[in-house]
Amino acid sequence: MLIPTSWGEIGRALAQGAIPPGVALNPMSLIKFIDPLPIPGPMPSAGANIYNIGAYPVRQQLHSQLPMTNLWGYGTSAATASYPAATIEVLKGTAITINWTNGLSGPHPLPVDPSLHWADPDGEGMMMGPFQPGFTYTSRTIPLSTHVHGGEQEPQSDGHPDDWILPGETITYHYTNQQPPATLWYHDHALGITRLNVYMGLAGYYIVRDPGSEPAGLPSGPFEIPLVIQDRIFSTDGQLLFPALGPNPDMHPFWVPEFFGDTILVNGKVWPYLEVQPRKYRFRMLNGSNGRFYEMQFQNRGGSGPSFTQIGTDGGYLYAPATFQRLVLAPGERADVVVDFSLYRPGTRFILRNSARTPFPRGGTIDPNTLGQIMEFRVVPRVGAPDNTPLPNVLNPSLATFPSVGIPSVTRTMTLFEVMGMGGPLASLLNGTMWDAPVSEEVREGTTELWEVINITADTHPIHLHLMQVQIVNRQRFKEKEFTAAFDAANPIVPIPHDSAYVPVPVAPYLQGPALPPASNERGWKDTVRMNPGEVTRILVRVAPIEGGEYPFDATAAPGYVWHCHMLEHEDNEMMRPLRVIP
Ligand code: C2O
Ligand code: CU
Ligand code: CU
Repeated sequence: MLIPTSWGEIGRALAQGAIPPGVALNPMSLIKFIDPLPIPGPMPSAGANIYNIGAYPVRQQLHSQLPMTNLWGYGTSAATASYPAATIEVLKGTAITINWTNGLSGPHPLPVDPSLHWADPDGEGMMMGPFQPGFTYTSRTIPLSTHVHGGEQEPQSDGHPDDWILPGETITYHYTNQQPPATLWYHDHALGITRLNVYMGLAGYYIVRDPGSEPAGLPSGPFEIPLVIQDRIFSTDGQLLFPALGPNPDMHPFWVPEFFGDTILVNGKVWPYLEVQPRKYRFRMLNGSNGRFYEMQFQNRGGSGPSFTQIGTDGGYLYAPATFQRLVLAPGERADVVVDFSLYRPGTRFILRNSARTPFPRGGTIDPNTLGQIMEFRVVPRVGAPDNTPLPNVLNPSLATFPSVGIPSVTRTMTLFEVMGMGGPLASLLNGTMWDAPVSEEVREGTTELWEVINITADTHPIHLHLMQVQIVNRQRFKEKEFTAAFDAANPIVPIPHDSAYVPVPVAPYLQGPALPPASNERGWKDTVRMNPGEVTRILVRVAPIEGGEYPFDATAAPGYVWHCHMLEHEDNEMMRPLRVIP
């Protein structure tokens, strides 16, 4: 399937986040740090432990210099929906019901690619190439499926990619909330279109609290603030742009391997600022971006700034606080951190900087004047008494030994790789199997498995499992060239991959160097794990609630769960597989 070279090159440029010239707003024309950071409020309930939440079109001003932007938001009605959405606050042990409504109407404003495995709500069939230049397609109907990321919930209420609903429809989901306190989030998960639905704004926090058991002395109330970081591209008229031409347009007319924006938003504002008092703050940080990683550090004009003290990770509190200067967050990951501004005088300003190479970790450096800045913190005079409470030394005694889960009874070895087309990546795959191949990951309830994941791509992939929080055992390098050569020899042609085309290659003979334990801030429950290129990442997957015992629901029910890469472009194009719990 030949495509004109020049077209392939345009595709390659677009895949890196470039956009059609002439329509994109130059991000340097937006003055930084002129808008205060918005803080999402609590999602109102519709009665005791019942919520009616829908996805609706909303218009919001995302920066003082921008006109209103057309977005999508979740809310209790079209009038109250917002981007990002209000925070669903739940108590551990108190079950809730959410009636999720699809309040959107088509057509989809972004380039829906009909050549992917996708929801296809109008039943037009997956379209196969070769596509000619000028091919157009729009989904007339918008399918939605809402998933609570990190939640231990029944399969019927998990927001499975195939469990989407049409505009005007409502689906009722039940959440038992038996898991320990943690920073979870909810977002759309409809098959093959998640990247576009989340980009339009469908995301919010879901926070599990347990006042009885949570460590005392943590900043709370106005000093506990969520920070969801996302990147976008704006048109000159202030609307969201998404690249519409990928590296292999004859195969996938619109799909780009990774979306990278040129403008950073926190809590839905472009480059906002936050006034902080000289005291400790708790920030529940979430990377809600499609494909961008962040490597963050606080810097004042002299280049120094407070450190991050991480207290919690995806699935809850760490055993003990972990302090460091730089924090890396991959798409989907959360870091619950305490930052102490008490040593700084009013008037001091810090920029939360980003230095993550893009794609991470081997791509190019980023522009320090745009993508290198996330938001500003301004120290203002203290109001009220100083905050002298020290952080507890131990936050979560149940993780005193780590890993804390039992000995695995099953070991699975899987490989992450990319299929290349004429112009660049055609798809990323988990273990060489496509979304619709028969279920291969069937995990037995009550057991523990060791998953060894070999990454032979050039990118770090944040691998996410539904239902279960996992623990990282270690990461170990392997001889990339040699292993990849052996892998390619065993898998000479993988044009359209499927089960039988994939021949696993054992990695043991290629391992080099020590197996390194997880970083101090990864020694906790994780649902999204960074798997770096040239490394085997080993995780323990225990098929049981975090706190042990049995699930208070039938985890083996249909439609089951999924595991996938949380770079949304990967997830939407085959880097997602079913995950079934078996009795
Ligand atoms: Cu955050 Cu399967 O999702
Ligand atoms: Cu999830
Ligand atoms: Cu990926």
